[in-house]
Amino acid sequence: MADGARLIDGKATAAAVRAELAAEIAKLPRKPGLGVVLVGDNPASHAYVRGKTSACAEVGIHAPLVQLPADATQAQALAAVAAFNADPAIDGVLVQLPLPRHLDEDAVVQSISPEKDVDGLHAANAGLLALGSPRFVPCTPLGCRELLLREGIETRGRHAVVVGRSALVGRPLATLLSLKGPGGDAAVTVVHSAVPDLAEHTRRADILVVAIGRPRFVTADMVKPGALVLDVGINRIDDASAAKGSRLVGDVDFDAVRAVAGAITPVPGGVGPMTVAMLLSNTVAGCRRRAGG
Ligand code: GUN
Repeated sequence: MADGARLIDGKATAAAVRAELAAEIAKLPRKPGLGVVLVGDNPASHAYVRGKTSACAEVGIHAPLVQLPADATQAQALAAVAAFNADPAIDGVLVQLPLPRHLDEDAVVQSISPEKDVDGLHAANAGLLALGSPRFVPCTPLGCRELLLREGIETRGRHAVVVGRSALVGRPLATLLSLKGPGGDAAVTVVHSAVPDLAEHTRRADILVVAIGRPRFVTADMVKPGALVLDVGINRIDDASAAKGSRLVGDVDFDAVRAVAGAITPVPGGVGPMTVAMLLSNTVAGCRRRAGG
């Protein structure tokens, strides 16, 4: 075990998912559509949106982008969503988050039609998941579950610890892991920044998922030997030795944890590409549902 964890290749798995989706899309009567709303100049948001729209193009999803300036009004943001809601060629609406601080993010997200809410953030979809009848599930939790399923990792009866309680990742993932059926049936603990001795909990995890948004937060002493570690974090840190002067790291201290864990996702190339693949998958599912099939 001390020889180092097996690397879980999210990039390769996401490519396999995209190839399956492209084949499925080719058989649909029309191209699925994803309407994307991007507000402001956040460089990370622009990079994510480029990744999402180019993945759409690769698999055959029509993905019009509405870009609004950083000083856009609430009315403009709502109007962009409303236009996609009303467009019959659009099956999914994605508002890239975070929105500039002067906007009411929750009001914009809740204005997305629940039938087109591919991010699974509308109250109706979050509620359906909590009730155990998921419709649209947020893409990152879905990507984590898809990785577990495709890697053949048993979750039934195992102890999963989720670090982070966000509406986008931690909470929906904890629900998914506790649902009945494949990729579920786990004993789930959710911990977060208000829990004093996090390590006491994380050390008991067979499956440890980290989505707390702090670079290299989880250290080797916080991980049970042989555990499976999914690192959801994407943090840009300064690194004078890197060509750009910075590089991406996860929420897990990768080099140290790798020596302890049984399997681990890298950053980049782990959970991130799966998130994008699940966005495409949700859009195709939305298209099928809207077509009545
Ligand atoms: N910003 C960071 N992650 C996400 C995501 O999954 N969806 C949206 N809409 N914005 C994000």
